[in-house]
Amino acid sequence: MIIGSISENVKYEKRVAITPDVVKKYKSLGLEVNLTKNYALHLGINDNKYQEVGANILSHEDVLLNSDVILQMNIPDEETLNKLRANQILIGVLNPYSNEKKIKNLISKKITCFSLELLPRITRAQSMDILSSQANLAGYKAVIDSFAYFQKAIPMMMTAAGTISAAKVLVVGAGVAGLQAIATAKRMGAIVFATDVRLASKEQVESLGGKFLVVEGSENLETESGYAKETSEDFKKKQEELLKETLRKIDIVICTALIPGKKAPIIVKKDMIEVMPSGSVIYDLAASQGGNSELTKVDEIIEANGVRIMGETNILNKLPVSASNLYAKNMFNFINNLFNKEKKTFEINLEDEIIEKTMVK
Ligand code: NAI
Repeated sequence: MIIGSISENVKYEKRVAITPDVVKKYKSLGLEVNLTKNYALHLGINDNKYQEVGANILSHEDVLLNSDVILQMNIPDEETLNKLRANQILIGVLNPYSNEKKIKNLISKKITCFSLELLPRITRAQSMDILSSQANLAGYKAVIDSFAYFQKAIPMMMTAAGTISAAKVLVVGAGVAGLQAIATAKRMGAIVFATDVRLASKEQVESLGGKFLVVEGSENLETESGYAKETSEDFKKKQEELLKETLRKIDIVICTALIPGKKAPIIVKKDMIEVMPSGSVIYDLAASQGGNSELTKVDEIIEANGVRIMGETNILNKLPVSASNLYAKNMFNFINNLFNKEKKTFEINLEDEIIEKTMVK
C-alpha cells in the first residue's frame, strides 16, 4: 500500500502533511511514501532528506496515479481531483461544507474522503486531533505577534529609573487556543484575565495563573461534546457590561471564541474598543469565522481609535515547521488506526467512531 502527497500551493499554505520523521513511521508499517519534487523545500527540507528515509520523489501525475491514499492539508484544485480514480482515499482538512461540489464529485467516483476537522473529541482520538494541535500553536503565536506590535515591555520591571508595570492581557474564549495564549502570556510576565461561557474552563484558567472573569449569574453553556452553546440576550448584555469595564485597563486582547458550525460571536463591540487604552492590540484568532471583535477585517491589520486590530487568518503559515510536525504526526496516527496491519490494507470500519465521524458521506 502506498501513501502519497502533492505540494500545496505554497503561496497560501506552507504546512505539509508528511515530514521526514513520519516517513520512517509509515515505512515501519510497511507502507511506501510518494511525494512530489521540492515537496517541503520552502521549509528548508530538501528532497534528499525525504529520500534518505525511503520516500520516492515522483512527478505530480505519478504521485496521484500510484498512491492508494493521498494525504493533504487542504482539498486540492479541480484539475488535481480529476486525476484521482476509484478506490483511492483522500485525507485532509477538506472543509466539506464549503467544498460540497468537489466532495460530491469525488464520492460519485468512489473516492473515499476523510476530513480530519470532523474528528470526535474523544480520548482515543487525541493523538489525531488536528484542531487541538493547530489551535495550540495559533494561541501561542497570537500572543507572540501581538506582543511584537505592542510598544511597551510586557513584564513588570523595577529599575533605578522607575518601575514599568506589567502588561494586562485578556483572553476571550479559554479553549485550546485560549489556554495556550494564557500560558504564553503568563510565561512572558503579563497579568492575564480570561473569560468563557463554559464554567469548566474557570479551573483551567486559574491553574495557569489567569484570573477568570465570571459573567454574573451565568449558567454553564457547554454542550455534551464540550463545545460552547450560543448565549442568550441576557448573557450577552451582562458579558458586555463586564468586558466594557475590564477593557478600560487591558493592553492586549486575544480573541478565540468560536461556536462550531456558526459565525463567531461578536463579543468585543465598537464602544468597548473606544474605551481601550490607545496603543493596545487585539489579535482576533476568530477572524476566519468573522471575528469576535466588531471592527475586525479579515486578513487585515487595521487601526481604530489607536487600537491595532489584527485579523489575519494565516497565522499557522508563520509557524509552518512546528505546525507541519504536529499535523503530520496527527495524520500518521489516523492512518495507523485505518490500516489493518494483519491484512496489510486500509479497512473502513464504520463501527469505529473515529472512522465513521471523519468519513464524508
Ligand atoms: P472552540 O475553538 O470551539 O472555541 C474556543 C473557546 O471559545 C471555547 O472554550 C468556547 O467555550 C469559547 N466561547 C464560545 N463562545 C463564547 C462566548 N460567547 N464568550 C466567551 N467564550 C466563548 O473550542 P476548542 O478550543 O476546540 O475546545 C472545545 C472543547 O473541547 C473544550 O472543552 C476542550 O477542553 C475540549 N477538547 C477535548 C479534547 C478531547 O480529546 N477530549 C481535545 C481538545 C479539546
